Amino acid sequence: MRTPSNPFNIDQLIDELKSAALSADAKAQVKSILKRAVQAPQWVAATIPDYADDDVILFENDLISIWHCRFPINLSVPAHDHQMVATIAVYQGAEQNVLWTRGDSGAIEEKTELTVNAGDVLQLGPNAIHSVRSTDDMDSCAIHVYLGRLTTVERSLFDAKNGVVLHFDDDNYQRLVSTGPASAKPHDSQLE
Ligand SMILES: [Fe+2]
Repeated sequence: MRTPSNPFNIDQLIDELKSAALSADAKAQVKSILKRAVQAPQWVAATIPDYADDDVILFENDLISIWHCRFPINLSVPAHDHQMVATIAVYQGAEQNVLWTRGDSGAIEEKTELTVNAGDVLQLGPNAIHSVRSTDDMDSCAIHVYLGRLTTVERSLFDAKNGVVLHFDDDNYQRLVSTGPASAKPHDSQLE
């Protein structure tokens, strides 16, 4: 529920994002809407429903998918692509990203690392490949928005250690996901 001192409302945000998806300028509009939504991340944390599941699809159609994602402490999400523009708005904790590029052999190589902190928004192009790790002190919570129907698009998982590209499905994801402490953490980077 919205209160006079807290302008965040998840239903209103979903409506704004659905409208933005209809625009020719959807990519920029989604980023702008999400930046405004998480500019005071404590408002989001105080207001958003306490979702039972870690990954919740809040809305999906052919133009846009809106997810709430909670990454428990020390979760390492394997490298993957989205095949559509992805915009990540963190409001609690942090998502530590590694961005990868595909080498000539098809295997992936680490390009850069950056941390998306509460209040930050990261936008990735349709060909981007990233892996994500939550920190060791707090679950990370974010709103993820994809400009397309994420649940049905063909996309890939990458086994970086063995240089193998896999179909993105639940079995391959469960094989690659890990929950142990990290030996090294990505560095903080400045976001635009
Ligand atoms: Fe992702």
